[in-house]
Amino acid sequence: MRTQLTFANFSGIETELLAVLATDTQTGKGPDAKPEPVLLTSDAAVKAAAAAVLASGEYKAGANETLLLHAPAGVAAKRLLIVGLGKQGKVTVNSVRNAAGTAVRFTKPRGIRELVFALPEAEALEPGLCARAAVEGALVGDYDPDTYRSDRKDLSVQSFTLAAPGKSNKKTVEAAFAEGVIVGESQNFTRALVNEPGNKLTPTILGQRAAAMAAEVGLKAEVYSTEKLHELKMGAFWSVSQGSEEAPVLIVVRYEPEGVTGGPVLGLVGKGITFDTGGISIKPSDSMEKMKYDMAGGAAMLGAMRAIALLKPKVRVIGIVCAAENMPDGKAQKPGDVQTAMSGKTIEIISTDAEGRLVLADGLAYARQLGATHLIDAATLTGAVGVALGKVNAGVFSNDEETYGKFQSALQVSGEKFWRLPLDEEYAELIKSDIGDIKNTGGRFGGASTAAEFLKVFVEERPWIHLDIAGMAWVDETRPYIAKGPSGIGVRSILEWVRRF
Ligand code: BES
Ligand code: MN
Ligand code: ZN
Repeated sequence: MRTQLTFANFSGIETELLAVLATDTQTGKGPDAKPEPVLLTSDAAVKAAAAAVLASGEYKAGANETLLLHAPAGVAAKRLLIVGLGKQGKVTVNSVRNAAGTAVRFTKPRGIRELVFALPEAEALEPGLCARAAVEGALVGDYDPDTYRSDRKDLSVQSFTLAAPGKSNKKTVEAAFAEGVIVGESQNFTRALVNEPGNKLTPTILGQRAAAMAAEVGLKAEVYSTEKLHELKMGAFWSVSQGSEEAPVLIVVRYEPEGVTGGPVLGLVGKGITFDTGGISIKPSDSMEKMKYDMAGGAAMLGAMRAIALLKPKVRVIGIVCAAENMPDGKAQKPGDVQTAMSGKTIEIISTDAEGRLVLADGLAYARQLGATHLIDAATLTGAVGVALGKVNAGVFSNDEETYGKFQSALQVSGEKFWRLPLDEEYAELIKSDIGDIKNTGGRFGGASTAAEFLKVFVEERPWIHLDIAGMAWVDETRPYIAKGPSGIGVRSILEWVRRF
């Protein structure tokens, strides 16, 4: 999808489809409270073309509700698409992000290959933030996961034009637009990786894809395998790959901006299990095919690194992905085995299905060894986080208020939903082992927190954020603004967190 920006008069733009936003300004309650949809534009011709249908009461301007008008009078566009943002009081920049995705996903299946999306004019909606969000939403909306369909018709929208009101601050909007393109494309880069099935994306191939991306955007990349894991004594990481024919891969991507030699070094660590069968503690076959997305945390880190390389914040960042395939086999690790992690801590394996924390234990230790002063990890770590938060929020944990504060403020820009869950000594009690230092599961209850406590052992007092995205990395039902499939969650928030240093 090509993206461009214009400051031309909306009603004068010749295009197949012009999308404009509307909000419901009705504030009253009760049976007589009829929706009062209002277009968020000062363009008189566009407003006049939509006036009759808005007055009819047929269209409520609910969030992502669409209405299409053909041959709108006094407007050069062939079609006028109205996209709702919902109740005025609840509209945020994220509503605009979703509305742009909705406009693109409306356009796509109708064989219309281009659209112009008018930036809303409303006091509460800052033009720069909206411009960025709109491009992000459009790019995210354009993605579909049908990579391997043999009759795949390329129905992508070929051209997306963001139309900003002529009176807006051009510099601000231009910069925000350029940012939105980078962020949206990076999120889709992540989604494309997550979408790949286990046979097409082995740890080795994930390493190749990471190296290719790094070369493209000017990052340094190192891709290691078995030997390096042994050299670094990564016994926890290695134990997960033991039962697979596929070699494990340790990916290290470095962003070192010129002239930055002091200050923090941020370590981004991602779980990259390219397929999780559960190992000897094998999973039930129902829905097991979904476990191809068990590398979504690692893919989010790579997408964030891509965006970082292109947006060039003044802080050093190291991205680490621990990639392996978790398989049952004669050589696979067994429940009861004891593994020695890179840090020297011994781990009793209770379930070979709690493998994410094992690869991350060594990934986090390695990030510290490479000099990371602050850590963030992302992982599809536990089913328990989905039980706790559903498919609405992802889980976030932190051992440091200042670092967490940066993440929370990042969410304001990313629009992603994360909910903080607790760490606590009493959860840590649940993973003490009788035979060694810790065990890799803490029972059914509080599973997301005991998993986080496990990771905390390997963070060793460094300020740290842990993102458990297991419930949110895959979208089960298509929504107006995003296809079902990989969500790309994490990329935008991790990027914004980094930019806050
Ligand atoms: N990859 C899974 C977690 C997961 C579950 C991701 C559902 C996405 C959707 C992880 O490796 C796992 O199997 N966790 C176990 C941990 C348990 C054995 C302590 C779980 O959540 O059941
Ligand atoms: Mn597992
Ligand atoms: Zn897993």
